[in-house]
Amino acid sequence: MANSNLRTGVASVILSTGSYLPQKIVTNKDLEKKVDTTDEWIFQRSGIRERRIAAEGETTGDMAIAAARKALESAGLKGSDIDGVIVATTTPDRTFPAVAVKVQAEIGASVGIAFDVQAVCTGFVYALGVADNFIRLGQARRILVIGAEKMSSVINWEDRTTCVLFGDGAGAVILEAQPEGKEGIKGRGIHSTHLYANGAQRDLLYTDGGPSTTGKAGCIVMQGREVFKYAVQYMADVVDEALAANNITAADLDWLVPHQANIRIIEATAKKLDLSMDKVVVTVERHGNTSAASIPLALDEAVRSKKIKKGDLLLLEGMGGGLTWGAALVRY
Ligand code: UT7
Repeated sequence: MANSNLRTGVASVILSTGSYLPQKIVTNKDLEKKVDTTDEWIFQRSGIRERRIAAEGETTGDMAIAAARKALESAGLKGSDIDGVIVATTTPDRTFPAVAVKVQAEIGASVGIAFDVQAVCTGFVYALGVADNFIRLGQARRILVIGAEKMSSVINWEDRTTCVLFGDGAGAVILEAQPEGKEGIKGRGIHSTHLYANGAQRDLLYTDGGPSTTGKAGCIVMQGREVFKYAVQYMADVVDEALAANNITAADLDWLVPHQANIRIIEATAKKLDLSMDKVVVTVERHGNTSAASIPLALDEAVRSKKIKKGDLLLLEGMGGGLTWGAALVRY
């Protein structure tokens, strides 16, 4: 059963958000010089104009730490106030140990849980679900949940079907255990998470390498058209499920915060929900697809630009390699 809305008297409330983007901007025009593509093709098919690419030597861990520091600053907390770190990533600095332990040490977090979650582009939603369960069961009090990716490290820069789509970055939220009120859906916190995978579809999107096969990370291989088709279907199903599980309709939502893979997938989900695009956070044009980082990056941008305000009802959703997909309904 992938739907979690266990009631334990404890809610996981988002205290703050943070994010980090590398300085280097690579535009579609820049990519026109590398592969046989055009700005028009990329923008029309995906909605992407530019993406950020990490500097030489800049790692997923470095970006995760930068995003974590921003989230701590916004919450007015010290590293030692955190007793859990969960990083969603598919591009770790090392095969092991986890990026999360690097973050834990660098921010000076208390000794507690620290591990990575690997569900590719759905990673952040998975990590949020895992963290929510730890908090509701009393195993942690404040968890930093981070999505961080250096997708440029697994891109074949000669493959035009994938290299134009991805980017690097990191986003973070701090979850805190707070008493669950009696106000139901009006209360702050994560109300439910809905997580899925269908491993029979694992060959639609993967890297052609790994520690126990080639000994190298490999590069992204994607059957884009197939993934697109499933993305539209799975997103529609999982957002419906999240609304039904909470006895609400799309009209109750303040914001949809989707994974930023393709504007056409995002628009299809909004249409299915009969939600105006004014209520959808969109960053894909400037960030490209940053995999597990895309949702927390979009969330942080919308919080900092004061679009998303305390008390807003948010539906977070994503899908990616696995195939995996999921959603989280959150009162910010
Ligand atoms: O985040 C994880 C989940 N990932 C996704 O959600 C990605 C899902 N897929 C997509 O977003 C879209 O399928 C793409 C953006 C990847 C591609 O768009 P599409 O409309 O599905 O295009 P297509 O793959 O069907 O390709 C159409 C044509 C092909 O040429 P032919 O076979 O019609 O002659 C491709 O070879 O476009 C060609 N093409 C390109 N042309 C110019 C593929 N890549 C490029 C390119 N520039 N970069």
